[in-house]
Amino acid sequence: MPARVSIFGAGYVGLVTGACFAELGHEVVVRDVVEERIAALNGGRIPLFEPGLDGLVERNRSRLSFTLDVAEAVEGAEYVFVAVGTPPTYSGDADLSAVWTVVNELPSGFDGMRPIMIMKSTVPVGTGSAVRAALDARGLTGVGYVSNPEFLAEGSGITDFMHPDRIVVGAFEKSDAERVASLYGGIEAPVVRTSVPSAEMVKLASNAFLTTRVSFINEIANVCELVGADVTDVAEGVGLDHRLGPYFLRAGIGWGGSCFPKDSLALKQLAANSGYHFQLLNAVIEVNELQKRRVVAKLQRRLGSLRGKKVALLGLAFKPGTDDMREAPSLVLAGRLIAEGADVSGWDPVADGRVLLHGVEIADSALAALEGADAAVLVTEWPELLELDWSEAAGLMRNRLIVDGRNVLDADGLKALGFEYEGIGRQVE
Ligand SMILES: NC(=O)c1ccc[n+]([C@@H]2O[C@H](COP(=O)([O-])OP(=O)(O)OC[C@H]3O[C@@H](n4cnc5c(N)ncnc54)[C@H](O)[C@@H]3O)[C@@H](O)[C@H]2O)c1
Repeated sequence: MPARVSIFGAGYVGLVTGACFAELGHEVVVRDVVEERIAALNGGRIPLFEPGLDGLVERNRSRLSFTLDVAEAVEGAEYVFVAVGTPPTYSGDADLSAVWTVVNELPSGFDGMRPIMIMKSTVPVGTGSAVRAALDARGLTGVGYVSNPEFLAEGSGITDFMHPDRIVVGAFEKSDAERVASLYGGIEAPVVRTSVPSAEMVKLASNAFLTTRVSFINEIANVCELVGADVTDVAEGVGLDHRLGPYFLRAGIGWGGSCFPKDSLALKQLAANSGYHFQLLNAVIEVNELQKRRVVAKLQRRLGSLRGKKVALLGLAFKPGTDDMREAPSLVLAGRLIAEGADVSGWDPVADGRVLLHGVEIADSALAALEGADAAVLVTEWPELLELDWSEAAGLMRNRLIVDGRNVLDADGLKALGFEYEGIGRQVE
């Protein structure tokens, strides 16, 4: 049965969720507070880069609308999704101010209907209970509440939404859980029904586990460098163990993005606030901070002082397939390199580095970024960079040194072109 769905937040999660529910046949209204964002959407433009989203929105135009107006967004809505940002505060706790704004913005009556507020934003455990109490205090006892965390990854958001590994539904009322599960009719996936706190924890634990795997393989890579092993072979051998699997075992210069850093920090703080020192997660986070900085040490080992040396950062988004630069390793790298006195250039096929990368010369092409460079660092493994004409690059650079931060380049081919090559945890002579 098609339902009337309202979504608060027209970001990566809100837009993908809205477009996918429209694709499933539901009537969707997406509401945001940023005027330009809604104007762009109403003008047929997608204000962010997510592969396939423009076509999906276009195809479902008749069931999808965008507004700034709360009343318009929730009118007749049976489901009200919250997909607003929950960035970190200075203390490391999640900033829930946008979530509270939505709770307070809801109208005081729903004409005898029982809409369900569904939390898609990633929030600390306990948020659902606090929101429930706030809704009750506002007299909105007839509004249901369900925690339904989102696991999509930017760059593959639509596929992840339409073909999820699982749909997690944490509810206070069984009937609310059933209604939310039914909304996903048409999507083949196991539905995990839990309490609200458990659903909130599934999301935080999943992200923390993924970061743990990456920090783990990064530490293995660092040890490989010292003892003469090659982490790419090691990861292949480890990943074939059916108890472990191959995922998130790619060594590199560290994880970033809009979710992993803030969610791991939020879980760390959640534990600490509850009186528990989450030792493992603390280490996972610290390993990642150090991992990003190790690239600078690698460059210094080869080039000596970086003062006056030009370093080109290739790929600026936190991963390929997105324009998102939140907590991207390129930001830390650029900051450290500039602090060491280096001249830093950068290029990305999609992300606009100008907004966050102060002091970095943003080039129009990868080759332009490499012109006169003493070293190149492959930061984000965009296909464009894998296919780059490295022989042309070699001719443009002042010094042929490349640090392959994602272990994706052809080391032998580069060496044949006269490059010094260094990967992460690889043995390349
Ligand atoms: N980006 C991801 O890959 C991803 C994946 C899973 C979960 N999440 C979680 O989903 C949530 C949203 O993430 P995102 O990346 O889409 O964030 P985003 O920053 O891209 O989008 C959030 C949007 O919410 C809007 N907003 C703020 N206050 C609002 C209000 N009162 N009413 C309506 N809109 C409002 C903002 O203007 C913004 O457009 C976060 O909690 C995040 O942790 C993100």
